[in-house]
Amino acid sequence: MEDEKIYVFDAYGTLFDVDHACKEMAIQLGNNWEKLSSIWRQKQLEYSWLYNSMSKYVSFWQITKDSLEYAMNSLSMNSAKIKNELLDLYFKISAFEEVEEVLKKIKKNKIKTTILSNGSYDMLNSAVKNSKFDELISGIISVDECKKFKPHRDVYQLVIDKFNINKKKCIFFSSNCWDIHGASNFGFKTIWVNRKKLGDEYLPGIVDLQVNNLNEFLQKNHIL
Ligand code: LAC
Repeated sequence: MEDEKIYVFDAYGTLFDVDHACKEMAIQLGNNWEKLSSIWRQKQLEYSWLYNSMSKYVSFWQITKDSLEYAMNSLSMNSAKIKNELLDLYFKISAFEEVEEVLKKIKKNKIKTTILSNGSYDMLNSAVKNSKFDELISGIISVDECKKFKPHRDVYQLVIDKFNINKKKCIFFSSNCWDIHGASNFGFKTIWVNRKKLGDEYLPGIVDLQVNNLNEFLQKNHIL
């Protein structure tokens, strides 16, 4: 058991496209769809960090609803119908196009996988089911288990507790650079899936490897 490695995937932004809901509604939202998506995501993350700082916890779904409310208000949008449609789409969010094939190849290599996400179990189960990843991922871990959000150390510890594995055997994939630093600071090996070609963050922890998408990780045959 001790030598077995596990690939740990962040969910939102890494496996699943956080812009998907607004993109799907681009016709109704007009030119504002990208702006709305970006404010919604940024506010969602800020709220998760602020809840951590206040030692408070609500589910990520609540935060997702509140941050959408904030984002729509900031752009003077007030349609309850659009809000509900966006939330429905977010609940069954789509995966990035390469993910399914990559997960299949990883499974073929008999490497264990888990999701580790701020998302609540209902959100994550819905996303996994919608993309038909049920058979492709060995586990789902939600921060519901520790009632803190990333990058709190207790979140990364959940993987150790669930799989009884050494930190160094955990290879953590995220498109969120701050999450990569959090995981590295905890002791995981890290693969930054830099989908938006952003610069590195000035935070504790390091990026062990950087790729543009998960396919590139496999093509380079970086099976760590
Ligand atoms: C998650 C957030 C960080 O899935 O996107 O944990």
